[in-house]
Amino acid sequence: MSNSSAGRETWATRIGFILAAVGSAVGLGNIWRFPFQVGQNGGAAFVIMYLAFVVLIGFPAMMVEFVVGRKTGLNAVGGIREFAGGRWKYLGGLFVFIGFVILSYYSVVGGWVLRYVLGSATGRYMAQGPGEYFGQISVGMDALLAHAVFMLLVIGIVALGVKRGIEIAVKIMVPAIIAIFAVLAVYAFTLSGAGEAYSYYLSPDLGYLLDNWQSIVPAAAGQGFFTLSLGMGVMITYASYLSEDENLAIDGGTVVVFNTGISILTGLIVFPILFTAGVDPAAPGPGAIFVSVAEALGDLQFGRLIGVLFFTTVAIAALSSAISLIEVVVSYAIDEFGIARERATVFIGTAIFLLGAPVTIDIVMVDLYDIFAAQILLVLGGILLVTAVAWIYADKAIDELGKGVKSFSGLDKVWLWIVRIPVLVVLLVSLYLGIDGFIEFLQGDFAEFLNSL
Ligand code: TRP
Repeated sequence: MSNSSAGRETWATRIGFILAAVGSAVGLGNIWRFPFQVGQNGGAAFVIMYLAFVVLIGFPAMMVEFVVGRKTGLNAVGGIREFAGGRWKYLGGLFVFIGFVILSYYSVVGGWVLRYVLGSATGRYMAQGPGEYFGQISVGMDALLAHAVFMLLVIGIVALGVKRGIEIAVKIMVPAIIAIFAVLAVYAFTLSGAGEAYSYYLSPDLGYLLDNWQSIVPAAAGQGFFTLSLGMGVMITYASYLSEDENLAIDGGTVVVFNTGISILTGLIVFPILFTAGVDPAAPGPGAIFVSVAEALGDLQFGRLIGVLFFTTVAIAALSSAISLIEVVVSYAIDEFGIARERATVFIGTAIFLLGAPVTIDIVMVDLYDIFAAQILLVLGGILLVTAVAWIYADKAIDELGKGVKSFSGLDKVWLWIVRIPVLVVLLVSLYLGIDGFIEFLQGDFAEFLNSL
């Protein structure tokens, strides 16, 4: 338990920590972002690269954040300041900035989910046609209002400090996701396009991978960091509540396994539906999950009811992740400026709402924010964290990692060298390619959008 700052809650049990970390990791990254990245990056070629990133890069990088958190018992910003000190304290500023940017568009997508809870209840998207409905609610006034409602929910939960409630919600959410998604995946399995979809989704085309690795690598890096909530210190904060007899690697592994399983399951729903409807999996872009699930629900008995359950579960997943994002910023403001939690949350939440408002102008704005945040900012955050922890303060890191572990037999050194060289090199390459891709996007799709205004 930490007494490092005012207004912090703790979880007394290991399962509480795992639930909170899973609550942060499992969210729109799995359900919205993953299928749309798969669709835009050629299917299984992306999936295989993504899996490699999660296991070989993401998991060791998660240990880096865990070590800082448990060692210092502080939040993201305080943790890195105390662990590394000196100029590394500015890294905390980067974390806060990233939290701002990600939550600003995350909330817009969260708003779409809320709209789909309603749309399922009324059955409107079935009547209107899934593609058209998505086009209508994903931009403009509709999207702006829903974005406001989503941010209000986030502000309300964090200001009232009812994160305990979220812990309970997560306990229900994870089994609910698995149950509802399994039903939909079984339904998807029965569709005529399923075979074709599975081969697209699960059987990698190595030729495609070799031809397109320069866009697949940064996309997989961005997805790996985004989905595991890495690169901006979220996991520092959570691990700060852990006790020294906890085995960090086992806890991290549990989070990774649940999180990855839910992403893979989501793809098993989305792609059979898209293939059966004759839709090119790349075409719906950020709308992939919405369009495909809406398509399926129109077909199903009790479709509306399943739709309400599905999108409500997704909304809970999105909220529990959004809370971890805003918490980095809020706890920074509380610690740094001594502002009360309620005031800090309302101010910060409003600022984030405003930053996200332009995202509702056009769907291309989602790409603008998302590519910048996931493929550049998170990877940059990861590179700096790894450098500070595994190169500059390696002794401390090794010492901390060893706590709560019975016999390490040299695995700690293996971890250290994996993070020091291959992880760092791959992240540097990803960052380079990510910047390159972002520039290409600015000169291509984005310039086209600006010209059309
Ligand atoms: N991982 C969450 C998701 O997949 C989003 C998220 C929460 C996140 N906290 C984060 C992403 C911190 C990056 C960094 O939906």
